[in-house]
Amino acid sequence: MRHFGQPMAAQRTFYLTTPIYYVNAAPHLGHAYTTIIADAMCRYRRLAGDRVYFLTGTDEHGDKIAQAAAGAGEAPQAYADRIASAFRETWNRLGISYDDFIRTTEERHKRVVQAILARLYEAGEIYFGKYGGNYCFGCERFYTDKELVDGKCPDHQTAPTFIKEQNYFFRMGRYQDWLVRYIDERPDLIRPERYRNEVLGFLREPLEDLCISRPRSRLQWGIPLPFDDRYVTYVWFDALINYVSALGQPGEPRRETFWPHAQHLIGKDILKPHGVYWPCMLKAAGIPVYRRLNVHGYWSLGGGKMSKSIGNVVEALALTDTYGHDAFRYFLLREMTFGLDASFSEEALVGRLNADLANDLGNLVSRVTTLIVNVASGVLPAPGPETPQEALVGAALEKTRAEVHAAMEEFAFQRALAAIWEFIGVVNRYVDGTTPWVLARDPARKDRLDTVLYTLGESLRCLSLLLAAFLPNTSLKIRQIIGLGEAPMTLADLTWGKLAPGASVRKAPALFPRVEEKKAVPAESRKAGADRGRVTVADFSKVDLRVAEIVAAEPVSKSRKLLKLTVKVGAEQRIMVAGIAEQYDPAGLVGKKVIVVANLEPATLMGIQSNGMILAASEGGTLSLLTLDRDLPPGSPVK
Ligand code: MSP
Repeated sequence: MRHFGQPMAAQRTFYLTTPIYYVNAAPHLGHAYTTIIADAMCRYRRLAGDRVYFLTGTDEHGDKIAQAAAGAGEAPQAYADRIASAFRETWNRLGISYDDFIRTTEERHKRVVQAILARLYEAGEIYFGKYGGNYCFGCERFYTDKELVDGKCPDHQTAPTFIKEQNYFFRMGRYQDWLVRYIDERPDLIRPERYRNEVLGFLREPLEDLCISRPRSRLQWGIPLPFDDRYVTYVWFDALINYVSALGQPGEPRRETFWPHAQHLIGKDILKPHGVYWPCMLKAAGIPVYRRLNVHGYWSLGGGKMSKSIGNVVEALALTDTYGHDAFRYFLLREMTFGLDASFSEEALVGRLNADLANDLGNLVSRVTTLIVNVASGVLPAPGPETPQEALVGAALEKTRAEVHAAMEEFAFQRALAAIWEFIGVVNRYVDGTTPWVLARDPARKDRLDTVLYTLGESLRCLSLLLAAFLPNTSLKIRQIIGLGEAPMTLADLTWGKLAPGASVRKAPALFPRVEEKKAVPAESRKAGADRGRVTVADFSKVDLRVAEIVAAEPVSKSRKLLKLTVKVGAEQRIMVAGIAEQYDPAGLVGKKVIVVANLEPATLMGIQSNGMILAASEGGTLSLLTLDRDLPPGSPVK
């Protein structure tokens, strides 16, 4: 019997756009970040049952595209075709679930741009005038003197070009007071808050009219103005309109369904066009303003030591093929706090892959499936009576579900993932605390074992749903392992107890094999234990604490309590005997990083020489090994 959880919230309509990317450069990390987070958001909203439309595309007109085409010795259209396909292929390879890909050289787009221009011209919103000003070709806009830093464009660090020519202008200045009020009344229109404040800051200066044209004598590569074909429209007036042109003309079903439910997602570099020009253009054209502008920060490249450091953003994107799309996505979503800048490095990516994906998630899936296969022949048992331990897992799921929901309303992907990883931690601790491998040895405790195994299987099902928007490939793998395959799912299924007993569970291949860090072993760790002296309790400061990685673990024969562990401390491997057999499954320990006393006197336990001590906290019979919350190589000192 299926039982249903909460009734579904009313269906929402959600139209999400990425910037349309200039075709003068190959797809790179920055483009990929915006597109990947848009994809995660749209997948999440589809799972929530919302009506979703996801638009991306390419911006193909203007001076810099024409220059790039000339530089490549190609006609602009042929050049734009080639780079636009490269973007589309990149998104397909990365599994981006876009519904539409708009190109500004398409007829459907040009028609809408020209219709809007004609309408504004007739309404007297556009006039012909002369203007001279400082123009940045990188940004494709004029800068006021105040905006320049040391006379240069703050984004491109280049001196602007003074341009003076006759052009068409949009009477944007008229809308200044209206826009300030519009933003004031809508605290959520531009998010996060800092960018809302930045837009209000722009609006404290007088808002100048916007130049929207280029004479064709100087630039051919654009959309001709419907009222003067000696001119083409200028890049922003062309580009911003893609968000409505992709939906068709007014009256067409897609346009009526999705506009104005638009949420735009952009990097902070294009805040002014989206936060100022675009609402004014929409207002003047009689089109309702978008619902929300979501602005993220910038990735910089951190100098990593791991390989020759990544020289540019295209190389950074290539790491998605080296480490897998899900690992790459995870890193981008988890590492950057939405709205703030972050630094990208291969080391940081590998650190997260090893700690969060291989250790926390991958080990959990492999422990659980190995258990169900080994002690229940791969068939998920029906649960016996529940205890408070199971209630804790159910409560953790509920909490995570609510936290993910709240985080996703804010585009706070990093918070959503942190909440999911808390749930993973709860389930990992549940395995440690219920010791199913011990229960399995006692036929009288079969009921208890069944409850534990069911809880674990059900946790994996919930996890596959929680992860679906963020790590789609991994989510599908988990579902296949627990016998659910590609059956449709929705967030409404995120209620406890929906996995039917009897499901067949397979042993999982490692979801995320660990990546060996090629980092040099820190010099200090090579002399671990050698010259720090033996310690007494009073001499605590002399205790040489180190990070160690468990590479093998086995029970000690004739002992209920002891495990023989082989651990790596820096470059050397040692044997340590630890009294944790009642609390830890040997197989689940392999790959864990723990803290050890590296300079302890050797001791012999059950005939085995133990060379160091593994630290664990304990309370009321529960043990908890000290592990790291961020990955560090074995041998790292603990101070
Ligand atoms: N064509 C315009 C946008 C027109 S939208 C109507 C444009 N194109 S772009 O190719 O330069 O892309 C800019 C966008 O790429 C940024 O807003 C951001 O989404 C992404 N990024 C480019 N470099 C980036 C980083 N280093 N870090 C994060 N995102 C960045 O501007």
